[in-house]
Amino acid sequence: MKSTFSALLASAFAVYSVAACADGHDDHASEAHMHLPQKRAYPSVPLTPPSRPLVWGDVNIIHTTDSHGWLLGHQKPSFPEPNYSGDFGDFASFVSHMKEIALEKGVDLLLVDSGDLHDGTGLTDGYPAGGVDAHDANKFFDKLPYDVLAIGNHELYDYPNTLDIYENFAPKYPGRYLSSNVNITVAGPNGTAVSVPVGSRFAKFHTLFGRKVTALGVLYDFTGNDHNTTVQKVEAMVNETWFKEAIAEEPDFFLLAGHMPVYKDKWPFVFNAIRAVHPTTPIFILGGHTHIRDCVQLDGRSMSLESGRYMETVGFLSANLDHKNSTANITFNRRYLDPNRVTYEYHTGRGNHSFDTWLGQEITRGLNELAESYDLSYLYGTAPQDYSLSRWVSTSPEARTGTDSPSSDPYPSNGSLLTLFIEQVIPVALAINNTRAAIPNIIITNSGELRFDLYKGPFTKNDQLTASPFTDSFLYIPNVTLGVASKVLPTLNKAGANEKRSLEREEELYGRGVVDMRYRAWLEEMDRRDGEVKRAAQNLTLGYVTQDSCPGVGDDTVHAPLPYYGSPDFLSSIPPTGADDTVIDLVFINFIQDQLLGVLNGLQSEKVYADSDVLSYSPFLADEVLGLFAAEKWN
Ligand SMILES: *[C@@H]1O[C@H](CO)[C@@H](O)[C@H](O)[C@H]1NC(C)=O
Ligand SMILES: *[C@@H]1O[C@H](CO)[C@@H](O)[C@H](O)[C@H]1NC(C)=O
Ligand SMILES: *[C@@H]1O[C@H](CO)[C@@H](O)[C@H](O)[C@H]1NC(C)=O
Ligand SMILES: *[C@@H]1O[C@H](CO)[C@@H](O)[C@H](O)[C@H]1NC(C)=O
Ligand SMILES: *[C@@H]1O[C@H](CO)[C@@H](O)[C@H](O)[C@H]1NC(C)=O
Ligand SMILES: *[C@@H]1O[C@H](CO)[C@@H](O)[C@H](O)[C@H]1NC(C)=O
Ligand SMILES: *[C@@H]1O[C@H](CO)[C@@H](O)[C@H](O)[C@H]1NC(C)=O
Ligand SMILES: *[C@@H]1O[C@H](CO)[C@@H](O)[C@H](O)[C@H]1NC(C)=O
Ligand SMILES: *[C@@H]1O[C@H](CO)[C@@H](O)[C@H](O)[C@H]1NC(C)=O
Ligand SMILES: *[C@@H]1O[C@H](CO)[C@@H](O)[C@H](O)[C@H]1NC(C)=O
Ligand SMILES: *[C@@H]1O[C@H](CO)[C@@H](O)[C@H](O)[C@H]1NC(C)=O
Ligand SMILES: *[C@@H]1O[C@H](CO)[C@@H](O)[C@H](O)[C@H]1NC(C)=O
Ligand SMILES: [Zn+2]
Ligand SMILES: [Zn+2]
Repeated sequence: MKSTFSALLASAFAVYSVAACADGHDDHASEAHMHLPQKRAYPSVPLTPPSRPLVWGDVNIIHTTDSHGWLLGHQKPSFPEPNYSGDFGDFASFVSHMKEIALEKGVDLLLVDSGDLHDGTGLTDGYPAGGVDAHDANKFFDKLPYDVLAIGNHELYDYPNTLDIYENFAPKYPGRYLSSNVNITVAGPNGTAVSVPVGSRFAKFHTLFGRKVTALGVLYDFTGNDHNTTVQKVEAMVNETWFKEAIAEEPDFFLLAGHMPVYKDKWPFVFNAIRAVHPTTPIFILGGHTHIRDCVQLDGRSMSLESGRYMETVGFLSANLDHKNSTANITFNRRYLDPNRVTYEYHTGRGNHSFDTWLGQEITRGLNELAESYDLSYLYGTAPQDYSLSRWVSTSPEARTGTDSPSSDPYPSNGSLLTLFIEQVIPVALAINNTRAAIPNIIITNSGELRFDLYKGPFTKNDQLTASPFTDSFLYIPNVTLGVASKVLPTLNKAGANEKRSLEREEELYGRGVVDMRYRAWLEEMDRRDGEVKRAAQNLTLGYVTQDSCPGVGDDTVHAPLPYYGSPDFLSSIPPTGADDTVIDLVFINFIQDQLLGVLNGLQSEKVYADSDVLSYSPFLADEVLGLFAAEKWN
């Protein structure tokens, strides 16, 4: 699958568009020395509370999206990770207490998820051979009383994952797991293939306090789905008879969940189709997919909320609904919570000792057991410092008071994970047991090979799967002259910088599910806006700083943003020194083979390179090299 993608996708970030298939490569299991899973249930460092209480309405919604397996929360002590240290057990306790508060107030509280349960941490991707990504982790997810869930694109990269959702997960929420425009093909009752919705197309239900709801679960125009799954375009969906019938009757409000960004995507198609029939009915939109915090009002009687990623954000949306046929603006309130026990306890008025519910503790215990059974604490070595992808990462532990300025780690620098990966990790790992190790080489990879920052402290199987999960291999072409080989990287990166092509490419990638450019643009924007000034004032802690287009301030805890640095699409190891005609091995990740051959043939005319000139360089795959390096250098 990956090789056909690489022809299509000319980008570094393209690997984000293929599912992470951790397939149980574990050559090191025999050497395993066991470590108990980190039993984090309480933050190991003091955290400051939110800025102000939540504003409750008649209708309130707690929103999660793009959780990607981060159910054990962010457990590293480096900041800002502790801000997101709440695990799914803590979240379950939070939801229980919030439900009690809602009941006391006599208001409705709904729980909504906007998809992307797969791909992201060891809990999802670390499944044993023969397993299915997220199958086990989802058993904890479904312990929560979600009212509506929508399917995400990461549920569709691999047919077995979609089938698992269809057969095992969706039935846990009868009628409430929504896939309005997404089908799966399965064997029908008489053996012939039938295409059916993965969950339900829509839901109609009454809230606890009797409000009538019509809900949808819409996926953006995703094109990277596996065979035997179907994604219908949003504008075609709103044209369907079932859709028109579903929205015909007027509910008290529409609840539009969906794996689609609230801004710069196709929500207006759905919104306008409803507004054409119901000009004033309140509409709540709960979006996702671009991993950012965002809020938009399409009119005065609706609000659209997007609640980040990786359990780094829990969204809260509330409104006071007025009488039917009113045309006045509705007062909405939205908040982006940092998911940690301090936040949860603050908003539920609970203390450390009255916070945990039985269910919450069971979930935490079960998740830790799952981590143990996947051997996620298997220790490769101990990282001496933090390494970041874009400096979206901690300061030193001493800086947790927020008074130290964060360190700066652009690429290339010693704190950059990209620098570590290409200049040290890959060269060291690929030299292991390699008969060509003595021959000078240049190694080229795409920066999208890395998914998450790497933090100081124990480097485990979970960290390996989180930071670099892709099962790509390393190839080489022998006897390339140094003069030609050293021009390959700049040419690859220049091709990526061509503006028109890069716009087209971005669209293509976006269709395939790549959201990194949007997420990074968001980080860059918050830093550029006033990052330097806010950090210099030294009275704010670090974290997300959201500026959306809804009224008032959305962030629950006020932060200063971290510095942001971009990175090139392609990375190279440090070239050997020598004359231009020195012959070397040109080593590269298989993912970029087509582009690399194209560039090589453009740079010289002595030989036309083809697939047949490409040889295997090492048996080790990209999802193993960090572990190999850590075992060798970090012990
Ligand atoms: C977030 O992290 C900062 C350090 O950057 C810390 O000082 C602060 O207490 C944390 N905030 C919350 C709400 O956990
Ligand atoms: C098999 O079942 C499908 C749907 O369940 C139906 O459309 C089709 O006509 C059936 N085919 C036969 C040969 O009975
Ligand atoms: C799609 O599913 C049908 C029915 O299960 C199966 O016969 C067919 O081989 C599948 N197609 C592919 C490409 O796997
Ligand atoms: C989805 O499934 C429904 C029910 O079987 C079917 O009517 C519809 O045509 C399918 N839609 C797509 C886009 O495949
Ligand atoms: C919507 O339906 C009409 C009539 O069936 C059709 O002409 C039109 O092409 C459809 N539009 C889309 C976007 O599918
Ligand atoms: C109602 O809300 C809309 C959209 O947010 C805004 O443009 C409009 O000015 C508001 N009207 C009033 C009367 O506040
Ligand atoms: C709302 O308007 C509709 C149509 O104009 C009318 O039939 C209905 O009685 C009105 N409902 C209320 C509560 O005013
Ligand atoms: C909360 O309670 C746990 C368990 O009793 C304890 O380990 C932890 O230190 C307490 N944390 C705080 C901040 O009191
Ligand atoms: C970066 O790391 C290299 C190798 O470990 C070291 O020689 C160099 O001094 C470091 N540079 C800085 C600025 O710390
Ligand atoms: C390298 O080869 C040695 C000897 O065959 C073997 O014991 C060792 O496990 C190999 N190292 C790795 C990382 O595979
Ligand atoms: C590379 O060059 C060496 C000598 O320069 C030659 O012996 C070898 O066969 C060449 N290898 C290939 C794959 O062309
Ligand atoms: C932080 O300091 C700046 C500059 O001194 C000041 O304008 C701002 O109000 C302070 N913010 C907080 C939250 O104390
Ligand atoms: Zn996602
Ligand atoms: Zn997504």
